[in-house]
Amino acid sequence: MNKLWYKGKDVLKEVEDYLASDISFDQALVRYECIASIAHAKMLDKIGILNKNELDRLVKCLNEIIELDKKGRFILTKSDEDVHTKVENYLTEKLGDTGKKIHTYRSRNDQVLVDTRLYNKDKLNELMDEVVCLCKSLLDLSKKHEFTAMPGYTHRQKAMLSSIGLWSSAFIESLLDDLRLVKTSYKLNDQCPLGSAASYGVPKNIDREYTAKLLGFEKVQNNSLYCQNSRGKIEAAILSALSQVMITLGRISADLILFSTQEFGYFKLGDEVSTGSSIMPQKRNPDVPELIKGNVNVVLGYETIVKNAIKDLPSGYNKETQVVKEHTMKALDLTIDSVKMMNLCISTLKVNEEICKKACTPELFAADYAYSLVEKGIPFREAYKKAAKEIDKIKVPDLVDVLKKRNHIGGTGNLGLDRLGKGIEEISGKL
Ligand code: ARG
Repeated sequence: MNKLWYKGKDVLKEVEDYLASDISFDQALVRYECIASIAHAKMLDKIGILNKNELDRLVKCLNEIIELDKKGRFILTKSDEDVHTKVENYLTEKLGDTGKKIHTYRSRNDQVLVDTRLYNKDKLNELMDEVVCLCKSLLDLSKKHEFTAMPGYTHRQKAMLSSIGLWSSAFIESLLDDLRLVKTSYKLNDQCPLGSAASYGVPKNIDREYTAKLLGFEKVQNNSLYCQNSRGKIEAAILSALSQVMITLGRISADLILFSTQEFGYFKLGDEVSTGSSIMPQKRNPDVPELIKGNVNVVLGYETIVKNAIKDLPSGYNKETQVVKEHTMKALDLTIDSVKMMNLCISTLKVNEEICKKACTPELFAADYAYSLVEKGIPFREAYKKAAKEIDKIKVPDLVDVLKKRNHIGGTGNLGLDRLGKGIEEISGKL
């Protein structure tokens, strides 16, 4: 396929392949390339570069590409170089001179920015929806087991009485914090770079407000050079938010895996997510949470790749930034899939209340015993020492009573689940 920059000399085939090694990721941008091109064409019509008939033909042809792409019939190959070249070549092939006008006052450099931002917006919306679903599943679990007692651990040693409700709602709060970060990165990404051209604008008063509005961006990204310099910087913010989501998922996974071992037995993962062994017939393996943990590392790796790719670049477009596209896309998909998988784990999770209760052995109440002495007027340090000496005498009290007594904000008796529910609704309404 003709390169847009072809001036009579071909590069080697292997050079062409190397430069377009990410072509499969451009395939996912076809739709966005067309949507952005339609907006650009409308703007060119508005400023008198295209006439109505040319605009109509371009819009029709671009919509045709969107349809072909949906059916898997607009396939990019490495010789196409990238999505921008492929679409422009197609328009020129179909529409002749009209096709040749679409590139007026734009550059592939701002095209790739606008395409990836539109892509990121859709994926971030999908991610936020999935995180909200996971929060709701965790809330159901928290409500069902608000007062199901279980041991709480510090240093991986039994510490104090806890509850399934405290455990699961801790992760809701973590995810809601993560959502705030995702939303902030969404906002940064929601700026329209179209019209910044190669990095230095164009010698015409193009209507950037108009294209930004047509494309549904919150605002125009102002400085044409910063538009380009922010490639990868905005993605780094997205990836850092994704890393936070993955870190939360990894921590949930760690508990799921531990608490469903034979030694603990507090949890049983649903059959839907439990796998077996090809050699040991008895096995029920927690492959899903284990792989989620593995994928936390992968997403953190993508974040590092993107940050490294841009950290020392000179201003303006640089080809190094091409690697930002692939790794951001991979991270978005992997995070969305991991959230979905975690939602499956949580919504099918079985809690063995009996085993949880039995695990609540007397030493968990040593501090409570000391506090009961404090209530009788003994200074805490003395009460602590007395409790230490009398550990063997401590009896397991009524578990639900103990849970309810921790009735300060955020304690097992005052988790604020209704408030959390409202928090989830509120954030999902604003997504
Ligand atoms: N495929 C390119 C990228 O992702 C598109 C921009 C090409 N621009 C250029 N000046 N070579 O970076």
